[in-house]
Amino acid sequence: MELAEIEALHAQHARADFGTTTPDELAYIQETIRTYKPRKILEIGTASGLTTGFLARFLEEVGGDSVTSIDSEDVFFGDHRKKVGYLASAIYDGQSVRTRIEAGKSSLDLAGLDGPWDLVFVDASHNHPWPTLDTLAVAPHLSGARIVIHHDLQLFRRFPRFLGIGPRVLFNETPQTHRHAGAANGWNIFRIDLSMEPVLLEEMGLNALSMPWTARPPLSKREVSRFREALRDTYSPGFWAQFDVCEKQNRWNATKMAYFYVRYAAAKLRNALLGRSRA
Ligand SMILES: C[S@@+](CC[C@H](N)C(=O)[O-])C[C@H]1O[C@@H](n2cnc3c(N)ncnc32)[C@H](O)[C@@H]1O
Repeated sequence: MELAEIEALHAQHARADFGTTTPDELAYIQETIRTYKPRKILEIGTASGLTTGFLARFLEEVGGDSVTSIDSEDVFFGDHRKKVGYLASAIYDGQSVRTRIEAGKSSLDLAGLDGPWDLVFVDASHNHPWPTLDTLAVAPHLSGARIVIHHDLQLFRRFPRFLGIGPRVLFNETPQTHRHAGAANGWNIFRIDLSMEPVLLEEMGLNALSMPWTARPPLSKREVSRFREALRDTYSPGFWAQFDVCEKQNRWNATKMAYFYVRYAAAKLRNALLGRSRA
């Protein structure tokens, strides 16, 4: 696909509030796929499925096999009447690349999916430490080129209220030899080459995890124990000891948690009512 074609298809389907990639960011992803020629791609954070469809189109250009896209939600945040991934088939209707949408899943569920993958696009929660956790969680499910692309490197400055510093923290802690930022959309996208020594990956992960976490709500006890369970044998005892220190420092007390959930429930109810009145 040429850039003009990407732009036209993007303009046809994307809306400003879709939280999706821009055409030049898509061109960066396309260039990465052309360079590394993956056979299988994983996307973490499906939303409308717009980028899922483009991933499938770019993968077809290099003769790849499948795109799997996961999202923690069942419905698309931009339109609560639509399921996550609904746009993927409008962008890619070819037969050669198998496209699979897995709703209600996060990087903690990868063991039950169709990995390993050669290339991953992470565009889910941008709150720290999620992009780092997604990267650490996906590492044992990588094969081939072991490339992980992250979106929204500039979110921390453009929309400070989102507290979306996660991609930036991870980028900063990735060795220069293993990271590459693209100029697209004002340097808003980057890739990490995870073919590195395990000790280096742990060091990078712990450096990032040692920065204050901005996830709202914070990681739940269940998420922490699932993360630990899934990766216990992947990372060393020293890693887990330091992980515990970071997690404890970022835990919320009961009052803060209760306050957050009351506001969260109110926002969910408002969205559901708005969705129903639009239907
Ligand atoms: C920015 S949108 C993804 C946009 C999509 N990649 C695109 O370019 O069209 C982020 C999506 O990630 C999902 N999400 C948030 N936290 C997640 C998590 N921890 N694991 C998986 N998905 C998550 C949200 O439900 C939302 O649909």
